[in-house]
Amino acid sequence: MPHVFGTDLWAYLAQHPADNAVFNASMTGLSTLETAAVVAAYDFAGIDTLGDVAGGHGALLAAILTAHPTMRGILVDLPHVVAEAAAPLQAARVAARCRTMDGDMFASLPEGGDAYTLKSILHDWDDDPAAAILRTRRAAMPARATLVLVEHVLAPGNTSDPGKFQDLNMLVALGGRERTAAEFDALLAAGRLHADADHPDSRPRKRHRGAGQKDNVSGMWSTDRLNGG
Ligand SMILES: C[S@@+](CC[C@H](N)C(=O)[O-])C[C@H]1O[C@@H](n2cnc3c(N)ncnc32)[C@H](O)[C@@H]1O
Repeated sequence: MPHVFGTDLWAYLAQHPADNAVFNASMTGLSTLETAAVVAAYDFAGIDTLGDVAGGHGALLAAILTAHPTMRGILVDLPHVVAEAAAPLQAARVAARCRTMDGDMFASLPEGGDAYTLKSILHDWDDDPAAAILRTRRAAMPARATLVLVEHVLAPGNTSDPGKFQDLNMLVALGGRERTAAEFDALLAAGRLHADADHPDSRPRKRHRGAGQKDNVSGMWSTDRLNGG
């Protein structure tokens, strides 16, 4: 992107409202294909306030809040994204329980959540900025807060994996990358976080198809429960 447009994707979208609308709608569309699998596979029960960092227009957060009627949410993203998040949250009937705020995930992030999600974010970035995102998140988290990562986990080595095409896409478009489980472990260590080895959801898991998803959707994802303590 910087070579062609002279700026990265996020700054470009901030300056081009029509493209921004298309991009955010596409993120909502992709997320909507995956949310049922995420909600079904990770136990979000008991979380009082969940913050979704860089959560776009809130498709994932809305799905989790819908499944957990007493939970409250904080949706954080860049100003030009959260500015248009109110209508989708109202349409999902979770707006009354969901606060939106703009914020730069490299600078500071909201406190007050007892758990946070980062979905399809780390793969946008190379290792140094991705670790910086985790360190910022870690600094804002209460000692026993949980961070749930939803990312594709690449098959290691020369194994066929559609995520490897996405790896190329992330590299070309954003300078980002998909990662293997071992690469996530190294990234978490650099971000001063560690997986909670005692928790059943602590290890990356790969799902090729979530409940209600079509075969061609795949929706491969994993979730790590990370102990911020
Ligand atoms: C690939 S999209 C994923 C959106 C959403 N989590 C999902 O899964 O649909 C990446 C998101 O990161 C946001 N983002 C990029 N840079 C950011 C920053 N510095 N601070 C906060 N959000 C940022 C973008 O606006 C975008 O919504």
